[in-house]
Amino acid sequence: MFVIAHFHIVMGVSAFFGMFCGIYHWFPKMYGRYMNNTLGYIHFWVTLIGAYLIFWPMHYQGFAGMPRRYLDKSSWVSFGQFHGLDAMITVVTVMVFAVQLMFVFNYFYSMYKGRKVRTLNPWGATTLEWTTPIHPGHGNWDGEIPEVHRWAYDYGKDGRDFIPQTEPIGEKESSH
Ligand code: HEM
Repeated sequence: MFVIAHFHIVMGVSAFFGMFCGIYHWFPKMYGRYMNNTLGYIHFWVTLIGAYLIFWPMHYQGFAGMPRRYLDKSSWVSFGQFHGLDAMITVVTVMVFAVQLMFVFNYFYSMYKGRKVRTLNPWGATTLEWTTPIHPGHGNWDGEIPEVHRWAYDYGKDGRDFIPQTEPIGEKESSH
């Protein structure tokens, strides 16, 4: 069970959070609307806390020697101590699953009813996709294709919050 716990929390949860980040971040670029913020916060917190409530206790079951790949562990008397824990994990799992349905609802609802994006670069990002029109057409840019002059991580530089990749490097610009 230690393997089940550790593998899912490290590989599974991190992969899912990466996908969620991408969807929330690029949703305005895909549909010209934002996903609902309140539902997003509920989804984030219930998933984060829930994931740890599900998988953290499984590590202890592993320490106690509980094997994986068994549907029913009742023939081991010593694992009876984990009945309550298993029940708690099951309840939290149902809750975490429910907020994933809420996320799917938020996705489709926001596609049609979400708050409209009114600025080209709502997150203050440096990368090129945020220089396209709010609803990009074929070829993405209306006029000239922009040039990239810098890497994508010029945040908090020279007193500026972010510097777009399309901006040429200034003569007096610091090198870090
Ligand atoms: C909806 C998501 C998932 C569910 C419901 C799920 C459920 C399960 C269950 C019930 C087991 C067997 C536990 C046991 O043997 O007692 C298992 C094993 C396992 N899962 Fe997942 N899992 C999910 C996602 C993932 C992801 C994303 C990964 C990897 C990135 C992963 C990797 C593994 C591995 C390596 C095992 C052990 C397989 C073995 O025993 O040989 N799972 N999972």
